[in-house]
This record gives sequence, C-alpha cells and structure tokens, in this order.
Amino acid sequence: MDVIEAIHSRRTIFKFKPGPVPKEVLERVFEAGCWAPNHHLTEPWRFIVLGEETKETLAQRYSEIQMGKASERADEEARQKLKEAGYIKFTSKPTIVAVACRQDGDEVRNREDYASACCAMQNVQLAAWDEGVGMQWSTGPITLEAGTYELLGVDQDNEYILGFFYIGYPNEILTPRRKPLSEVMRWTP
Ligand SMILES: Cc1cc2nc3c(=O)[nH]c(=O)nc-3n(C[C@H](O)[C@H](O)[C@H](O)COP(=O)(O)O)c2cc1C
Repeated sequence: MDVIEAIHSRRTIFKFKPGPVPKEVLERVFEAGCWAPNHHLTEPWRFIVLGEETKETLAQRYSEIQMGKASERADEEARQKLKEAGYIKFTSKPTIVAVACRQDGDEVRNREDYASACCAMQNVQLAAWDEGVGMQWSTGPITLEAGTYELLGVDQDNEYILGFFYIGYPNEILTPRRKPLSEVMRWTP
C-alpha cells in the first residue's frame, strides 16, 4: 500500500475481531512512529503497552466512569448496566497502547513536542493500516486521571498522555466523511 492510499483509506476502527495484535507487528508499527518529524530531535513520544493486569485495573476504573454518566434519575440497576457495559467495552479492545509525550520544556518546546508526538501517532496509524491493523485514538477522562498516570508510570509533571490507542484487526470499517479541500484551503495574493 502506498502512502497516499494509506492516508485515504485509513479509518478509525471501533469494532475489532477478538485476539491481540502480535508483539512483532506492534513493534514494527510503533517503530514507524519514531520516524516522525520532531524539532531539535527531542523524540518526545513514549509508548506504553498495557499488560493484562493493567488493562483489568483500567477496565474497572473505566466502568466506574461510565456509571458516573448515568442521569440523576437512573436507578441502581440502570447504573450497574452502564458499569457492566463500560467494562465490556474496555475489555473488548484487543490491545491498548497509551501514548505520552515529554512536556518538560518551555511553552514553545512543549507545543512542539506535543505536535511531534501527534505526527508520531499518525505514522503509527498509517503503518498499522498497512499491516491490516486498525486503531481508535481515544481520549477522555480515563486518559487524564492522576491514577492512570501513576498506574502507567507517566510523570504527570513532565509528561502528557495524548490518548490511548485501541488496537486490533478490524471487524467493521465505517464510511469516511470530509469537507472538500476548497472549504479549508485558501490562497493569499
Ligand atoms: C486527538 C484525537 C482524539 C480522539 N479521541 C477520540 C475519542 O475519544 N473517541 C472517539 O470515538 N474517537 C476519537 N478520535 C478519533 C476521531 O473521532 C476520528 O479520527 C474521526 O471520527 C474521523 O474518523 P477517521 O479517523 O475514520 O477518518 C480522536 C482523534 C484524535 C485525532
């Protein structure tokens, strides 16, 4: 697959076939992330592959967060259902990799390191797509909580979690949607 085909055909994947992505595939894919452009060669990205124990701990926490989204009128049964659904959703992701980046410079350096890490994440998504592997870049409360930083060994004072990649072999590929280029590009005299 050439790069233009990968860029156009890659889609965020929400539903995966069961079974984790093999370690050697993950290593190839994340190695591609390391070739992203990065100013001053800070190589600010950090990839943390969740082991089963860590995944279980986060699944419990994720399920609580989901339960917390219940409306005030929801009864205990409805709250428990949300909790269970949250647990099933999180544990249905075959492989989870957290992506963090350094944030230990001044404001400009931190922005540039964040931008570089985003470039790395797109490299990773494209390299994965080329291998037939799909991903969802996911953000939200679980990626921001102090407990998650502690569990994953990410230094909250000097690093930032950009998100989790939920990874696996796609079970469903949704149809893409984008504005035409003319709506987002302009040319100055
Ligand atoms: C910074 C960032 C955060 C994202 N967070 C979420 C998320 O929390 N939940 C989600 O469903 N998708 C998330 N996505 C994926 C986008 O929703 C997805 O890229 C978008 O719908 C376009 O679909 P496509 O990737 O198939 O083109 C995120 C993407 C980016 C770049």
